[in-house]
Amino acid sequence: MGVRAAILLLLAAGLAAGCHPDADRTGDPFTATGELIALSGGEAGAAKACFSCHGMDGQGDGIGAPRLTGLDAGYLQKQLDDYAADLRHDEIMTPIARRLGHDDRRAVAAYYAALPVTDSTGSPTPGPALYLTGDPARGLVACAVCHGPAGQGVGPANPALAGQPAGYTVEQLRRWLRSERRNDPRGIMTAAAAPLTEPEIDAIAVWLETLPSSPRPDIDVASVSAAEAASARLAASHGIHRPGR
Ligand code: HEC
Ligand code: HEC
Repeated sequence: MGVRAAILLLLAAGLAAGCHPDADRTGDPFTATGELIALSGGEAGAAKACFSCHGMDGQGDGIGAPRLTGLDAGYLQKQLDDYAADLRHDEIMTPIARRLGHDDRRAVAAYYAALPVTDSTGSPTPGPALYLTGDPARGLVACAVCHGPAGQGVGPANPALAGQPAGYTVEQLRRWLRSERRNDPRGIMTAAAAPLTEPEIDAIAVWLETLPSSPRPDIDVASVSAAEAASARLAASHGIHRPGR
């Protein structure tokens, strides 16, 4: 190990001890590896330390870097794998994910998924009608079926959207419309976003940002089945077939 790497390790360990006692207490080497990557950037290098953009608590930067806490570990790892495979292209995240090995991506995803959600207070205001009920006449499926009425997510595959920066959400929806984000299982987000107009995208994104980031909800079998049924219908109606994972 080079001197630079050793210093980084020490630095990261020091930061770690001060900042996330919960993760340390477990003494779990896997979580510790994830924490080290989050704080030092791991193989991606210190300039790419995750916390510098995603925040010490993994709450995001409020602008373009999303919150990672409270999201499912499998979802987060999938995103890192997809950046690395360029199914989800991003100028910043693609090179970072490529520098991390598969095990490192898994460890850092597990670390962020396990961090406590810090801003879960406050009650959500009701969302735009389009988000809650969709618009069958235009083939718009309610976002709430898969992402929850308060943006809390449904099951492990359908991520929470609550508390994400509006700019980030707008960018994701636009990237699906332009086929620049192509990592959604069976093309369901591409199909779900297709009927949206720009003002509708803005209204949904601005509202989502105001919602408190909730901790990951318990699996609710009925909601997961409804989301799966909606996914199957969307995939079939648009005839986009992508390998699910
Ligand atoms: C220079 C700033 C920066 C650094 C450093 C950085 N990220 Fe990101 N990250 C971003 C931005 C910006 C996005 C949104 C990219 C997009 O639109 O796809 C993002 C997106 C993500 C996502 C997708 C989340 C979701 O909800 O889909 C994950 C996961 C992620 N980053 C993990 C990491 C990890 C792990 C590290 C450290 C190894 C890291 N990031 C380092 C800026 C950064
Ligand atoms: C049938 C289920 C389904 C419906 C309906 C749906 N989504 Fe999604 N959405 C998903 C899945 C699954 C993903 C994760 C894709 C992946 O693995 O990258 C996702 C991801 C997203 C993301 C990216 C989250 C992140 O952290 O990067 C946004 C933003 C989003 N959806 C917004 C919406 C909006 C707005 C609507 C309504 C117009 C909607 N979705 C309707 C299933 C759905």
